[in-house]
Amino acid sequence: MSARVRLRPTMQSDLAFVLSLERDPDNLPYITPWERIQHEAAIRFPDFRHFIIETGPDLEAGGFLILIGCRNPHQSIELKRMVVRDKHLGYGRAALRVVKKIAFDDLGAHRFWLDIKKRNTRAKGLYESEGFAYEGELREAVKVPDGFDSLVVMSMLAPEFTDRRRQARELTA
Ligand SMILES: CC(C)(COP(=O)(O)OP(=O)(O)OC[C@H]1O[C@@H](n2cnc3c(N)ncnc32)[C@H](O)[C@@H]1OP(=O)(O)O)[C@@H](O)C(=O)NCCC(=O)NCCS
Repeated sequence: MSARVRLRPTMQSDLAFVLSLERDPDNLPYITPWERIQHEAAIRFPDFRHFIIETGPDLEAGGFLILIGCRNPHQSIELKRMVVRDKHLGYGRAALRVVKKIAFDDLGAHRFWLDIKKRNTRAKGLYESEGFAYEGELREAVKVPDGFDSLVVMSMLAPEFTDRRRQARELTA
C-alpha cells in the first residue's frame, strides 16, 4: 500500500519548517536553498504553487514542494523542488503521484518537467519509476563542493500521463 500524504497550500507560519528542511545537511547536497523572501513570493505569486506535504498517521508537516509555471501559456509546469523529511518511507513517491494529478488534472499541464543534479540518484530513480522520461543534460551547470555537476532534465507529457492512468499507474481522476 502506498504511504498516506496530503498536500495543502503553504502558509507563512510554515516557512520556518520549510527553511529548516532546505538547510538540513541531508538535503543541502541536492538543492539550492532559497531565502525566506523567495518562499514568501512563491506563496503569493499566482504562477507558483507552494505546498506542504502532510505525512504520517496524523498528517503533520513532513515536507514541501513547489510548482512553477502554473499560468504558463505553453502549459509547461516545472516541479521546482520537492523535499521530504523522513526518507525511504514512500512519502516522496506518494507526494509525486498527488502533484502529477494536480499538474495535469487541475492546472492543465501539457508538459510536467523537472531537473535534478546528476548525482541525485535517489530522486532520479524515483522520477524514472514514476514515468518521467530522460530528456538530456545541462552539462556541469551547477557548482558543487568538489567541482561541477550536470543537471538532468526529465519530463512527462499529458498523453503519457493519460496512458499511465489507463494502466492504473496514476491516481484516478
Ligand atoms: C527525493 C525525495 C523527495 C524522495 O522521497 P522519499 O520519501 O525518500 O522517497 P520514497 O521513499 O518515496 O522512495 C522513492 C524511490 O526512490 C528510489 N530510491 C530511494 N532510495 C534510493 C537510493 N538510495 N538509490 C537509488 N534510488 C533510491 C527508489 O526508486 C524508491 O522507490 P522504492 O523504494 O519504492 O523502490 C527525498 O529523498 C528527499 O527529500 N531528498 C532530498 C531533496 C531532493 O533530492 N529532492 C529532489 C530534487 S529537488
